[in-house]
Amino acid sequence: EALSDLVRSMPKAELHMHIEGSLEPELIFALAERNGVTLPYASVEDLRRAYAFTDLQSFLDIYYAGASVLQTERDFYDMTWAYLERAHADNVLHTEIFFDPQTHTERGIGFPIVIGGIHRALTDAQKEWGLSASLILCFLRHLSEAEAFATLEEAMPHRDKFIGVGLDSSERGNPPEKFERVFARCRELGLHLVAHAGEEGPPEYIYTALDKLHVERIDHGVRCLEDPVLTARLAREQVALTVCPLSNIKLRVFDRIHDHNILELLDAGIAATVNSDDPAYFGGYVNDNYVALFESLPLTRDHAYRLARNSFAAAFIDEEAKAAYL
Ligand code: ADE
Ligand code: ZN
Repeated sequence: EALSDLVRSMPKAELHMHIEGSLEPELIFALAERNGVTLPYASVEDLRRAYAFTDLQSFLDIYYAGASVLQTERDFYDMTWAYLERAHADNVLHTEIFFDPQTHTERGIGFPIVIGGIHRALTDAQKEWGLSASLILCFLRHLSEAEAFATLEEAMPHRDKFIGVGLDSSERGNPPEKFERVFARCRELGLHLVAHAGEEGPPEYIYTALDKLHVERIDHGVRCLEDPVLTARLAREQVALTVCPLSNIKLRVFDRIHDHNILELLDAGIAATVNSDDPAYFGGYVNDNYVALFESLPLTRDHAYRLARNSFAAAFIDEEAKAAYL
């Protein structure tokens, strides 16, 4: 009880959240109505009932369908603002937000509409609460290298609105090295680099994300524990893992929250962090993720402080700002 209150109230950073995954069913219906889109679901409850996932792909199919209601700059603003209100309520002081431009440009929505609406909300949150927020552009790994390069081209006129690139979508069969040349180019451009690896995919993908893409953090990475050499390396090099506990349960990476390996990661000396991934789909925002862990596993106050410190230590913020948070 006291521990739950502590993890809820402590200042934290969120480093792994897909903005399209914050679209709540109520907002999906409101935007569908506003835009004259007919959804293949009768009601909010009917849509929510479809959120019964068996693996990553079964989630992604519904997540991309949900995003189809986003059409105008205002839609992207409203979605982002709704997330930022939740993050602020959870005592998030800094958040690094993923967005999937290809999900929208493939449907004919212009890149400037997407990033313009999202970015305007970030500016307002900074003004309103001093909440610091940055954007990370994710390439969809089920699409081609050429499509990723084309998206990077479209993004470059907006270089001032995002700080890095990531890699998401269907992991198995789409190893990091498929995007080696794209990430090399992004590295030359001075962008921060992250990639989803070792969520559903094998530890091998964590190695190639590090050694071929040169990423600075691994998103998920929970399967690293299958490889003791990799585990030791992640701890030695203090490569942060952005872990998403409720996501891992909903997508059946672990059977139950009691089976989650975050305590083993921390005990191995790994810089694990706690994040919400796709909060509208997985049953909660970042504090819900912390509380689920602290109610189910023998985690202590020290673990709580370590997780919060890890979240700021792994953030892409200047050293002065970081020192102030730590
Ligand atoms: N896109 C949104 N959430 C994702 C996840 N957990 N893994 C891969 N791609 C995603
Ligand atoms: Zn993710």
